[in-house]
Amino acid sequence: MSAPDTAPAAPGSRPARLGLIGHGRLGAVHARNVAACPDAELAAVCDTEPAALAAAAAEHDVPVTTDLDAFLALPFDGVVIASSTQAHAGHILAAARAGKAIFVEKPVCLTLRDTDQVLQEVVDAGVPFQIGFQRRWDSRYLHAKRIIDSGDIGEPVLFKAHGRDPNASNPANWGLDRNGGLFLNCAIHDFDAARFLLGREVRGVTATGAALVHKGLRDKGDIDTCSTTLHLDGDAMALTEWSRYATYGYDIAMEVVGTEGMVQFGSERDRAVLVRRPARDGASVFEIFGDAYRDSVEAFAASLVNGTPASPGVEDARTALHIALAARRSFETGRSVPVEALPPLTRGGLACPPARRGMHPPEVLARRQDGHAGNGAYPRPDDGRTAVPLADGGG
Ligand SMILES: NC(=O)c1ccc[n+]([C@@H]2O[C@H](COP(=O)([O-])OP(=O)(O)OC[C@H]3O[C@@H](n4cnc5c(N)ncnc54)[C@H](O)[C@@H]3O)[C@@H](O)[C@H]2O)c1
Repeated sequence: MSAPDTAPAAPGSRPARLGLIGHGRLGAVHARNVAACPDAELAAVCDTEPAALAAAAAEHDVPVTTDLDAFLALPFDGVVIASSTQAHAGHILAAARAGKAIFVEKPVCLTLRDTDQVLQEVVDAGVPFQIGFQRRWDSRYLHAKRIIDSGDIGEPVLFKAHGRDPNASNPANWGLDRNGGLFLNCAIHDFDAARFLLGREVRGVTATGAALVHKGLRDKGDIDTCSTTLHLDGDAMALTEWSRYATYGYDIAMEVVGTEGMVQFGSERDRAVLVRRPARDGASVFEIFGDAYRDSVEAFAASLVNGTPASPGVEDARTALHIALAARRSFETGRSVPVEALPPLTRGGLACPPARRGMHPPEVLARRQDGHAGNGAYPRPDDGRTAVPLADGGG
């Protein structure tokens, strides 16, 4: 692998150069989105698997390597981490120590202690950080957020959502010590979305679940179905459901009920009775969130170019994991679990900027609300939905 012949330039003077760690299912999507992003250039790819590197090299004219140190020694600005979940911690630490801005897929780590240790280093290094909760960059969620914030539906008090994955992940990734299990790997998305859309913090969780279809998950302590009730500040609630056998295709829905109306998408309405059957061409997570993955990476690159904060950030990452761990504990104990507020991580004894309580900066929301409705102009996986290999899963 040879280093690029140009050195990093001052922020704003050129596109952000981004390296990618983990060229798997999602990493390949991120690599294409970085390469197509006006504010970014793909600089290099690192993966432990030669086949993943060969696929990256076939598609992108960039250095590829299995050597993390050599990769991080290259003069790029930031790194997109889409490696297997259990590798995130090491990759975040190495990137922070190398002074790279960090975009990382969820979850950061599998325990709050590890997460806080890792994110403390990020805070101390002072590098920009964004977590891959792509719902926050999805035009549907942003549209709903604008309606809620406008007061159109009165006081928003109830969030309801479901996420249904077509299949359980690759059994090689099963396990609470690997992909983290259903609450940390999947349901975490809607825990974050509830905070984002209601603009409130979660104070208590009650969860239940079972392995209804993929019974092998039981041996790993995991499940394929869960339902979670969240109580939030200010007399609000959230009800979320996740499962892993939507053979008809990846399926999400979200609604927020307020005192003067409601906003929703994804659910069938009116008097329709709908039946959906197993579909070989059912949607994948990469189609349902194709534009959101693109927009989240574009937002990360733009934040580096413009010197504005990346979002969602450190506090959003650890808070969502904190809620997911509480949900897991509630499922295991059969009891409601309180969710204490986490003191924000501090740098050099000084308080970090306060947690944004699930909000993008106003100027970012304004920029995103009217556009990016999804014109399909960006590359998508073209390998047929049923051919997408099972991996960590957990879109
Ligand atoms: N935000 C979402 O909607 C969403 C959707 C899918 C996956 N994810 C997350 O993305 C991550 C990757 O998931 P995936 O489904 O693409 O998995 P995957 O198994 O397809 O890809 C992971 C890649 O990382 C590589 N890798 C593993 N360990 C490595 C190491 N130590 N160094 C370098 N490379 C390494 C693997 O070789 C593989 O190519 C997971 O954390 C998952 O939770 C998020």
